[in-house]
Amino acid sequence: MDKQLDQILKSFESAIKGAKTAPQLEELRVEFLGRKSGKLTNILKGLKDLSADEKKTIGKKANEVRQFIESALSASSSTQSTIIPHTDLSIPGIAPQSGHLHPRTLAINDLVDVFTSMGFMVYEGPELENDYYNFEALNFPESHPARDIQDTFFVKNAVSRKEKRELDSKKWLLRTQTSPMQVRLMEEFEPPLRAIVPGRTFRNEATDASHEHTFTQLEGLVVDVDISVGQLTWTLKEIFRQFYKQDVEVRLRPGYFPFVEPGYEIDMSCVFCERDGSYCKICKGTTWVEMGGSGMVHQNVFVAAGYERGTYTGFAFGMGPDRLAMLKYGIEDIRLLGENDLRFLEQF
Ligand code: DAH
Repeated sequence: MDKQLDQILKSFESAIKGAKTAPQLEELRVEFLGRKSGKLTNILKGLKDLSADEKKTIGKKANEVRQFIESALSASSSTQSTIIPHTDLSIPGIAPQSGHLHPRTLAINDLVDVFTSMGFMVYEGPELENDYYNFEALNFPESHPARDIQDTFFVKNAVSRKEKRELDSKKWLLRTQTSPMQVRLMEEFEPPLRAIVPGRTFRNEATDASHEHTFTQLEGLVVDVDISVGQLTWTLKEIFRQFYKQDVEVRLRPGYFPFVEPGYEIDMSCVFCERDGSYCKICKGTTWVEMGGSGMVHQNVFVAAGYERGTYTGFAFGMGPDRLAMLKYGIEDIRLLGENDLRFLEQF
């Protein structure tokens, strides 16, 4: 038995060297100390058959071996937990993915900040609009050729049959511009009025790098008793200066829009030309960039909105936040704004 104990000790010592994981250590514990047939347990069970003297010596040795095995097992399992911890708190974590704003939204938010700091109210209007607000009230009479310029998506069967008769007479469409909100705002408010309307607009036209069927516009409207073109120019200049964070010049060229008289195309001095004098793709060497349309509100529009002819003056303008964002961030194709390609969006 004495020899057996020596053997057990030896075989335990070599076995524990190879035991690395918690399950392996547990296996060893069962092999040597297991209650039913552990190698050492068997010896301890046999002690009772020995003589009193043998019991003393062998019993003592067997106990020492048991203590040795137990403490070796517990030492290994505690070093084990420091060598292969379940959670290594020092490993850098995985950063959670967070969403962010679309470049189009960033541009609109920036514009809204600038306009609200100047006292403009911010409104949104219906994307499903009718012929009256989109054209007629804006001084585009039926069969006016200017209607054809705005390739319109007309909407069929947008509503239930019950409402159809009333709506047919209004001819529903996807708004081609944010200008219909000029009339809706004036119907609701009395001057003095200062408001902007950012929103989506739609045109049934072929797409290319600078045209999309769905794009954004931002409408501006100021109405009071003595509004001037000088105030329009100053406002536009200030907006662009704050949006592009650079001093700019604004130039108004005659332009035709039925709802303003006089009407203007808005040009901004090019802030994108390289200082080295190389050819600028954005202004095409002209030093001016087209930024939208504007003008003094036509008296027919005031009348359509319910104001008395000749009582008020006002200016209106329309610009494209998509275009402003493209210029600001150097985006060359407007279609990228609607595609939702993460490789593009992740850059903002
Ligand atoms: N709604 C016009 C368009 O889409 C842009 C525009 C021009 C808006 C002149 C205005 C304006 O408010 O005064 O082409």
